[in-house]
Amino acid sequence: MASVHPVTALADSATACAERLRAADSVLLASHIDADGLTSAAIAATALERASIPFETVFSKQLDAAELESIAASDHDTVLFTDFGSGQLDLIAGHEAAGDFTPVIADHHQPADASTEYHLNPLLVGIDGASELSGAGASYVLARALASSTQQDSDNRDLAALAIVGAVGDMQAGVDGLSGANTQIVSEGVEAGVIEESTDLTLYGKQTRPLPKLLEYASDARIPGISNDAAGAIEFLSDLDLDLKSDGEWRCWVDLADDERQVLVSALVQRAVKSGVPASRVDDLVGTSYQLTREEPGTELRDVSEFSTLLNATARYERADVGLAVCLGDREAALDRARQLLRNHRRNLSEGLEWVKTEGVTVEDNLQWFDAGNRIRETIVGIVAGMAVGAPGVRRDLPIIAFAEKSDSEIKVSARGSHQLIREGLDLSAVMREASRAVDGDGGGHDVAAGATIPAGRQAAFVDHANELVGEQLDEKSN
Ligand code: C5P
Ligand code: C5P
Ligand code: ZN
Repeated sequence: MASVHPVTALADSATACAERLRAADSVLLASHIDADGLTSAAIAATALERASIPFETVFSKQLDAAELESIAASDHDTVLFTDFGSGQLDLIAGHEAAGDFTPVIADHHQPADASTEYHLNPLLVGIDGASELSGAGASYVLARALASSTQQDSDNRDLAALAIVGAVGDMQAGVDGLSGANTQIVSEGVEAGVIEESTDLTLYGKQTRPLPKLLEYASDARIPGISNDAAGAIEFLSDLDLDLKSDGEWRCWVDLADDERQVLVSALVQRAVKSGVPASRVDDLVGTSYQLTREEPGTELRDVSEFSTLLNATARYERADVGLAVCLGDREAALDRARQLLRNHRRNLSEGLEWVKTEGVTVEDNLQWFDAGNRIRETIVGIVAGMAVGAPGVRRDLPIIAFAEKSDSEIKVSARGSHQLIREGLDLSAVMREASRAVDGDGGGHDVAAGATIPAGRQAAFVDHANELVGEQLDEKSN
């Protein structure tokens, strides 16, 4: 049997966490409401179930003091936090000291200044939590350790499929696919026959979008006359010497044979070059993609990236139960509901993006920001901010900060940076934590993507602090 520790550096903490879970009377599994949080919960739930450890599951938008109070009030001796917990370690340690529960944490966020015994986090062993291991990856490492310490049939390697959906949902994959510890999980999934890795077109929607939509909506590619151009995309496809319709309906990428794909990719590349698209962006048209081999071809679940969007469409709209059911294998009612939610999510993203493009952003010395008020849902404002970068008027060389109303008294802040800015010294996790604390809020996250909650009306002061902090980070590095 292959090693039970896909990520050797995490072996000790995974074993300790698994032992603690086995000793628990009952476990409360608490997880975050995004694609990574849902897949984390599904992996942990399956592993606990297979190990015959009784548990209950709850989801939370943000693990703050109030949320932890309610978790502490529940009747479980052990709380397993997945995809969050590290950032709130100070608060959690307080509950532990008070004897409320024993925490077990499988997370990848920047830890707060405190420590606890059962803490599995790539950042504690020098692995980058923003790009090399997700919450679902950390949960997978735990699941593998649990399998090895219990008498059970499954070694849990099938759960690698969900771990990869979580990592891709957290934007950990580049054009060349996943890296670092994530690749060890991919290898286990390939061996277990649940994941297929291939070199393919990188555009989003290969399983479910009819070809003209696949090309038209590929806004990242920005090919003049094709991207954002319905008629242009149809004309381009019609000019190819291929039969791309079946029964009068446009086929999807997944329906094409290898030689047909080849023709289409070459034509697209040629067209991009001819229209002056920079070489680096042309290269990005082809890259590594991941499919889940046990899922039906032509469904959102087959393609890891489409699967993760489907999950965001549930959990970020208070329907984590739907996404969890899909992760756990429901292909009937839950999948139908998830697809309805996906249509709604897509509409909200595109309306949100339009709103940002119309209203524009305010540029400060070291960052740019917009305040969406109640125009964009606080749970998706971070995704919209990320999508807005590169749109006309939104700069790529500055971090972007977005505000949205959370309630009458609270504002959600989301921040996104680029890998180039990280190399120059940017750490948005520290910026969000410090700037929010300066205005009586709290925050954290990753260097490249972070968030906070602050009191209503403190946005301007927050921007001032954040602007100054980013300036210091970039200055320090350049000196
Ligand atoms: O809480 P969690 O770690 O699951 O969320 C990470 C968030 O950061 C996701 O919303 C993901 O899309 C975002 N992210 C990003 N760009 C990156 C890495 C992460 O926007 N390069
Ligand atoms: O919500 P959003 O997608 O912008 O979150 C980006 C990252 O910041 C996520 O990893 C999230 O868990 C983290 N975050 C945080 N504290 C907050 C808000 C977000 O650690 N108050
Ligand atoms: Zn995550």
